[in-house]
Amino acid sequence: MPVSEAWRERLAAARADRQQAQRWRTRQLVAHSTLDFAGNDYLGLAQDPRVSEAQAVGAHRFGAGAGASHLVSGHLEVHDALEDALARWTGRERALLFSTGYMANLGVLQALADRHTALFQDRFNHASLLDGAALSGARSRRFHHRDAIDLESLLARSECAHKLVVSDGIFSMDGDVADIASLVSVSQRHNAWLMIDDAHGVGVLGKHGSGCVGSTWNSREVPILVGTLGKALGTAGAFVAGDAELIDHLIQFSRSYIYTTAQPPAIAAATLKALEIVQGEPERRAQLNANIAYFRHEALGLGLSVSESATPIQPLILGDEARTLRWAGQLQKQGFHVGAIRPPTVPKGEARLRITLSARHQRGDIDQLLAALNHCQHQEALCSPCV
Ligand SMILES: Cc1ncc(COP(=O)(O)O)c(C=O)c1O
Repeated sequence: MPVSEAWRERLAAARADRQQAQRWRTRQLVAHSTLDFAGNDYLGLAQDPRVSEAQAVGAHRFGAGAGASHLVSGHLEVHDALEDALARWTGRERALLFSTGYMANLGVLQALADRHTALFQDRFNHASLLDGAALSGARSRRFHHRDAIDLESLLARSECAHKLVVSDGIFSMDGDVADIASLVSVSQRHNAWLMIDDAHGVGVLGKHGSGCVGSTWNSREVPILVGTLGKALGTAGAFVAGDAELIDHLIQFSRSYIYTTAQPPAIAAATLKALEIVQGEPERRAQLNANIAYFRHEALGLGLSVSESATPIQPLILGDEARTLRWAGQLQKQGFHVGAIRPPTVPKGEARLRITLSARHQRGDIDQLLAALNHCQHQEALCSPCV
């Protein structure tokens, strides 16, 4: 058989399996008329004219792109200003920009861990943390979700001198928040470092929106803090915040920082504006929290069993893939975009709608979504004898 034929068959078989399992992924062209309850623009900043204007002014001033990596000639004063602002915001000595959150997690784990390191990850950690662990070659263990006792027993059994505990801040598919206090105390008891990926928490939780770690936990307690800029801050990119030694180490060894073009400076300019708004307009967080409380109250009242979550991520676990796709399709037809999340992103049997709320949603938008969800459950009840 010619080589190309063997390849074609192998790839076709993998795609056929995926389709068969109802896990086929599609991209939706999101029309302007669609109400978005799937994205991560929690504070509405991606659409804020002040942020777009800062980006346009930044592009005129610094150009369309950085033109090189940070270590060659792509590190501009606007990047430096943003790193300083992010460090101050999160109460850390320094911060370092990465082009995406995925790259930040890969870069941190690859730079800090190797086969002489033991990593301990929450079972529900984001894919980028799991991929970073694989890339690092470290010995990796997963502890039960938010279970400090399980973590403690794994740490107690490890004889490794270099232990690193890693957890999401807000869990991206469940919306619940890591128990940072327990993670800090267990890690300290076992002489382990702690890394929190607060991708969904920055902008949303904590004082001035500095996240679930931010100004609450210092860098002795949480030495490695990752935040992303493409969610509540509305732009793109990510940062790692910590003490100066950590940041120097990453600049020397983090390959996804070193070997890539720096973030476009206009994005850094837009992010500086977004950060100013996040800190200066707490009413956005108040509006977001009011929307979350309203949605939960009404959804539970309609008998929709949304998971326990006080954050913008409100999962509705439907179980199997086909059912989840059916609901998402019906919602789409009625003009709502809601994430249909299936394995392998979530465990088997836990496919779900990932409904996300934003400060930009109006009461009426939420009411319309609730009515559409209610319609899905009634349709299902009508059809259930034939299912
Ligand atoms: C917890 C978590 N970490 C990291 C990332 C990756 O961030 P980015 O989209 O900037 O690559 C995501 C993205 O969804 C995430 O949910």
